[in-house]
Amino acid sequence: MDQRKIDGFTVSPIGLGCMGLSAFYGPPTEQADAIKLLHEAIEMGVNHFDTAEMYGLGANEKLLGEAFADRREKVRIATKFGPKFLFDENGKPTGTTVDGTPANMRRAVENSLRYLKTDIIDLYYLHRVDPNVPIEETAGAMGELVAEGKVRAIGLSEASADTIRRAHTIHPVSAVQSEYSIFSRDIEAEVLPTLKEMGATLVAYSPLGRGLLTGAMTRDNKPGGEGEYRQGAMQPRFADGAYEANLALVEEVKAVAAAHNATPGQVALAWVLGRADNIVTIPGTTKLANLKSNLGAASVRISPEQLSRLEGLADRVQGARYNESGMSAINR
Ligand code: ATR
Repeated sequence: MDQRKIDGFTVSPIGLGCMGLSAFYGPPTEQADAIKLLHEAIEMGVNHFDTAEMYGLGANEKLLGEAFADRREKVRIATKFGPKFLFDENGKPTGTTVDGTPANMRRAVENSLRYLKTDIIDLYYLHRVDPNVPIEETAGAMGELVAEGKVRAIGLSEASADTIRRAHTIHPVSAVQSEYSIFSRDIEAEVLPTLKEMGATLVAYSPLGRGLLTGAMTRDNKPGGEGEYRQGAMQPRFADGAYEANLALVEEVKAVAAAHNATPGQVALAWVLGRADNIVTIPGTTKLANLKSNLGAASVRISPEQLSRLEGLADRVQGARYNESGMSAINR
């Protein structure tokens, strides 16, 4: 795979979002299977692996630490801090909050370094912007981590163009991670032009619409069950009614895929990567066959005629990206 730039280093344009191996998308993958997948990913040319403190409360970072300890030089590891789960007196999660204070960052980064079994994090993000802490304060503290050699580059996730610019005046923001796909194009108006102007990279998460755009989800095969967050209360696009309406939109993606002898998921990834050369993406998967298929997107070029068929889909998607509480954590 050709590489794309994130400031001082390069990454494979298609990386691996590791969240689903430990959290949110059903029960965690067995450790041995997960490690096998991560090793195979490297063999197939993937070198950008994305995790966060939040994913499985450290379990996902520990998994990557185990997998990469003996091959650290082959991978770029990105992790994130900020959001924290809140628990009641019985230890049951009751919600989340965001803590962008330098003190919380210091606590989190030491845990991440230990869990990841590394002495440097390639890309360290503020996972969500803390409305109660000026971004200049957080960015300044993150810049100190770079100066100390604990972090190679800093990033923000789901930040507005204004917040990105303000942070950038304090310390260069190398990357911004936001949801971006055929179904989610909110960042096109302001964030993408800002990144282009700054020379920063967009790391597009949920490029497959959390699985919707792959065509593998059907009316009879709706995500559900234990540990599964893709349900109406958490993610309105999966609510009854919205889910079926959104599946109907995927038919258009399937038609474009058929015209290119590709899969819908490959079209979704090729669409993201084709938007600009300062974009990389991190589709999530727990399965080797899906990983292989996703990497095949690197050679798919969507014709202008077929591209126009995808143009209006985002406006027709039903349901917000997150529920009200999740959307309130998006900095706009
Ligand atoms: P996120 O960034 O939140 O992980 P995403 O990358 O848009 O979201 O989509 C991830 C989902 O797509 C996962 O549920 C993944 O399921 P598997 O773990 O079963 O693969 C699914 N997915 C990824 N690649 C796929 C593919 N090629 N075919 C079918 N489903 C796929």
